Amino acid sequence: MRASPARAKPRQSCPRLSFARVEAPLPIAVLVSGTGTNLQALLDTVHSREAEIVAVAANVADRALADWLLERGARLVVLAGYMELIGDAFLSRFPRAVINVHPSLLPAFPGLHAVEQALAYGVKVFGVTVHFVDSGIDTGPVIAQRAVELPHARTPDEVLSVLHPIEHELLARAVRLFAQAALETDPENPRRIVAAPSAG
Ligand code: GRF
Repeated sequence: MRASPARAKPRQSCPRLSFARVEAPLPIAVLVSGTGTNLQALLDTVHSREAEIVAVAANVADRALADWLLERGARLVVLAGYMELIGDAFLSRFPRAVINVHPSLLPAFPGLHAVEQALAYGVKVFGVTVHFVDSGIDTGPVIAQRAVELPHARTPDEVLSVLHPIEHELLARAVRLFAQAALETDPENPRRIVAAPSAG
């Protein structure tokens, strides 16, 4: 989830993008604010393989951040529980190259406290979404999602203990696919991201 107070409207459409194939490992930056388990999962899975984590930053929301990440050579920015605002100026420096992990099945329960929102709503199915970041609040095109039935869950901790391993898996897979230049936009629906069938 991404802390975004009152902001510009989400973009209505995404341009069709083609992703140039890049040589592995892909330099990536990871922005964190929480306990860092998603960062650790990336270190344990894709780091020094498909990707190289070249920068980690926490709780900084500054135009200089984009400059610094670009100087470090980052080609992909991963928001792994990053709670600061990512503005248009930053996004324009990393076009279609910022991804986020969110603990709900978007578009349900965007923004802060997604699991608490879902519990308060009384849902029986929870989930995880990894998506490209656009200028809206958790509104960017979905890369990966997984649902999990938890009909008896009552507390955020119960839900998060199930969701966290799913987050770690989906986030690593998304980074891998991005590094392989295997994420493409469906020409008939720019909201729909498809992974090349041969991608791992
Ligand atoms: C995750 O639940 C993620 O979905 C949300 O923030 C949390 C970060 O957890 N955006 P961690 O710091 O990676 O453990």
